[in-house]
Parts: sequence; C-alpha cells; structure tokens
Amino acid sequence: RELPAGHPLQVGRTSASPLVTTYQGVRGDSTPVWFMRQAGRSLPEYRDLRVGTEMLDACLNPEMASEITLQPVRRHGVDAAIFFSDIVVPMKLAGVDVSIVPGRGPVLGNPVRTAQDVRDLPTLDEAALAPISEAVALTVAALGDTPLIGFAGAPFTLAAYLVEGGPSKDHLAARTLMHSDPDAWAELMQWTATITGAFLRAQILAGASAAQLFDSWAGALSLADYTSKVAPASALALSRVHGLTYGGDEAGGGAGAAGTRAVGTESAAPGAHGDTATTNPTRTVPIVHFGVGTGELLKAMHDVGADVVGVDYRIPLDEASRRLGGTVTLQGNIDPALLAAPWPVLEAHVLDVLARGKSAPAHVLNLGHGVPPETDPAVLTRLVEFVHAQN
Ligand code: CP3
Repeated sequence: RELPAGHPLQVGRTSASPLVTTYQGVRGDSTPVWFMRQAGRSLPEYRDLRVGTEMLDACLNPEMASEITLQPVRRHGVDAAIFFSDIVVPMKLAGVDVSIVPGRGPVLGNPVRTAQDVRDLPTLDEAALAPISEAVALTVAALGDTPLIGFAGAPFTLAAYLVEGGPSKDHLAARTLMHSDPDAWAELMQWTATITGAFLRAQILAGASAAQLFDSWAGALSLADYTSKVAPASALALSRVHGLTYGGDEAGGGAGAAGTRAVGTESAAPGAHGDTATTNPTRTVPIVHFGVGTGELLKAMHDVGADVVGVDYRIPLDEASRRLGGTVTLQGNIDPALLAAPWPVLEAHVLDVLARGKSAPAHVLNLGHGVPPETDPAVLTRLVEFVHAQN
C-alpha cells in the first residue's frame, strides 16, 4: 500500500505543503485556501480554451485538462489545484451514454430504472483511465510543490444521476429504487463504487496528493438511509485509496516543517491519528469527504473513511466540529452567495468562518459549495490574499 517512488508526496515535494500538513491535522501559520469549482466558468481563460470543445471531450484531452487545472493556481495563488474533470467521467469511460448539457448538468441516454438495467451496466476497463493518469502526470509535473487534489463522485450522487437520467431536485426516483428493489440498489451501489474508486485511485497513483469524495446530493437522505444504503458503498470506493502510505524514515520525503509536528497514521484505521515520536513518520494520503446539506450526516460521512470533512454553508464550522467530537479537521464553508456581496460584507463573513474554524484541530478554507460561474475572479484572488494574511 505504498505510493509509487516518484510520487510528489513520496519525494517530499508536497508533503510539507500547507494543504497537506493541514489535512494531516497540523495547524500552520496561516489557513490554506482553495475553492471547489475554481477551475471553470468564472475564468475568462477557461471560457476561451473551451470554445468548440464539449465538456467531456475537454476532460479526456490530457493537455487541455491539465491546462485548465493550472489556470486558477496561476491566477489566484490558491494552496491546491483540483483536477479538472467531472464525477461522470468514469461512467463515460465505462461506455455509459452520458453527456453534460451546459447550464443543466449530466444527462443519461438510458436512465437506470430496473434490476435488469443495473445488470446491463458495462464494466470499466481500468486501461480506459489512461487519459486521466496522463493528465494528472502532466499537471503535477507543472505544479511543482503545489499539491493536486484528486476527486470522485460518491456512489449515491452518481446513482442520483443514473436513476433520474439527469439533474433532479429531491432525487425521488433514486430514493424510490433504494427501497422498492433493495437488491438492485445494492448492485447499483457496488457498480458505482467500483468505477468511481478506480477513477480516484488512478489520480492518486499518477501524482495527486489528496483525495476528495463529493457526495453532493447525500443531503437528500435520512441518516438511517445514508448509513444502511449508501455509506457501505462510499467506504468501498474509498478503500481503493485508503491507507496509501508515504514518508517514513527511509523515504526521505516530507521532512522539514511537517516532520516533527505531523500526526502519523500507522494503521489503516480512518481518523486514527496520534502523535508519533518518529522524525519522519509514515502517513497516508489524506481523504476529504464533502456533501451539501449534510449537517445531520457529518459523523456518518467521517466514519466511511475520511480524514477531513467538508462542510457546506448551512452549518457553522464550530457546530460541525462539535458534532464531530472536536477531533476532525474541517474544510469550508464560505457562502458562495457572499462572493457577489460588497467586500466588507464578504470580509466579515470570512473572518467569522476563520474564527469558527478554530474549534476544529485544523481548518482548510473553502466555499460551502462551488464557485458560481458569474463570480468576479478578482474577488477570489483578493480572498486568497486576505486569508493568507490572517492567522
Ligand atoms: O474546479 C473544480 O472543482 C474541478 C472540476 C470539477 C467539475 N465538476 C468541472 C465541471 C469538479 C470537482 C466537478 C464535480 C461535480 N460535477 C460535482 C460535485 C461537486 C458539486 O458541484 O456538487 C457534480 C454534482 C457534478 C455534475 C455536474 N457537472 C454539474 C451539476 C455540472 C454543471 C452544469 C452546468 O452547466 O451548470 C457539471 C458540468 C461541469 N463540471 C462544469 C465544470 C467546469 C461546467 C461545464 C461547462 O463549462 O460548460
């Protein structure tokens, strides 16, 4: 379960970065910051590059995906890149008829409604992930010591699209199938976990320094349904990237700042952090788990094997931390709506988020959901500078 020898975490290029050390639970001098959906339509250079290329074609073009991933890092000086791709890419690579309709989202040619539809889903040949590995390799070579975050959609969020056939408000059809045909549902969860876990693992092995699982629509579920019908599949997906180790005294990586302060994870147990006496302890690739409207699910989402929990804007970070027993590193949770507010309003909100984030062991600043496409990119740049100037 060791990362490949040349991996950025393994050679010590990203292991002491503010993002990675904070994800490992160590509070640094300032709070690292990146934005969900930072690569995308808020940037004119993105819109220019995308002219004439469909979304999923852009995702499968390694040079283009890499360039789009780098754009917000160059422009804003964020502490991490997030890989430009989409949660439906592994379905597409498996051969599912899916496209992304601008302004709408993923749309399926043949929605999955019956047990037979589930059985007919194609298997993902892992060799098909080559364009993803290639794009990640190009990207990390260009990023230097800025870490790349790999990501994937969680099984429920993918199933919400597969069963509905497109975006939906309450994901009724998916939640109906969950109860009306539990065996088909279990099989569907197994299928989505397999493809999405393979997608995430390919990104980590090719050089991403952290993993984020997006269960964007899990907030539609009761805690009981989440725990019994969804969480096992999310845990299965994460098991593909769980416990991948780096560092250790021989590897020579990640010494310096992180070495003596870092919390090591010797075991594969999620969140089982404890101080170690080693100067350069073995650590595992950090895993972040995020969902929208998941205030009631935070603990259950941590329990599937996450190190860090991403919090949306509906619940303050101090309350989220309390629900997690005060022991879990948090990421979040600026309300994206305030990006369009006058600067003093946004500034006061950011200071409040940073103050509440102090109740967690460590905190990575982010939005409570993605960057709205109409956001003025200059506001994001100013926000990064402002956050870096605080402590
Ligand atoms: O910057 C980043 O965050 C990295 C790239 C990224 C995209 N999608 C690019 C994208 C990431 C991490 C995602 C994840 C994703 N995709 C999620 C989970 C995160 C979340 O927002 O909750 C979900 C639910 C999807 C499905 C999806 N794909 C939606 C809802 C949309 C928006 C449709 C629209 O046009 O409003 C997409 C398309 C998409 N994914 C775009 C981008 C940049 C827009 C495509 C375009 O430029 O036309």
